[in-house]
Amino acid sequence: MGLPGSGKSTIGRHLARLWKLRFVDTDHVIEQRLGCSIKAFFAAQGEVAFRDIESQVLAELLQQDQVCVLSTGGGAILRAQNREVLKARSTVFYLQSLPEDIARRLRNDTTRPLMQGDDPLKRLHTLLQERGPLYLETAHYAIDAARQNASQVSRKICMQA
Ligand code: S3P
Repeated sequence: MGLPGSGKSTIGRHLARLWKLRFVDTDHVIEQRLGCSIKAFFAAQGEVAFRDIESQVLAELLQQDQVCVLSTGGGAILRAQNREVLKARSTVFYLQSLPEDIARRLRNDTTRPLMQGDDPLKRLHTLLQERGPLYLETAHYAIDAARQNASQVSRKICMQA
């Protein structure tokens, strides 16, 4: 779990390979179900419709008994029902990244609807302000990912898991 661009998918995929588990990216499952990109769906139906589907997919995935590494969308913690099910049905690692690191990483990214606009760094600071307490409330472990690459963060997670 963590802000968009905090490395959830890269690190999740790496850990799944290491632990010989299935890797599941909720955004990918959602896009398969929608038959279009999240960006296109956001533009056509809006954020509330997206959050409804996101909550449904997350609940379904967390109901399964097969152990896997799951990467959530950055906004999955916005709904209390998602925070509850995540906390109850998984071990949650929050990748605590710096907005500055993320803005650098995402500077050429055009796929994330919430990151479009003139000042992505300001947007990231706002998202962190809004979501930081929710990530911390949901996480079993907060991993300091500031100025760390994916391998360094993966190693930290392995030491906690
Ligand atoms: C979102 C983050 C995205 C995706 C959607 C909404 C958010 O996932 O779920 O665009 O609200 O932060 P990533 O965190 O993988 O970018």
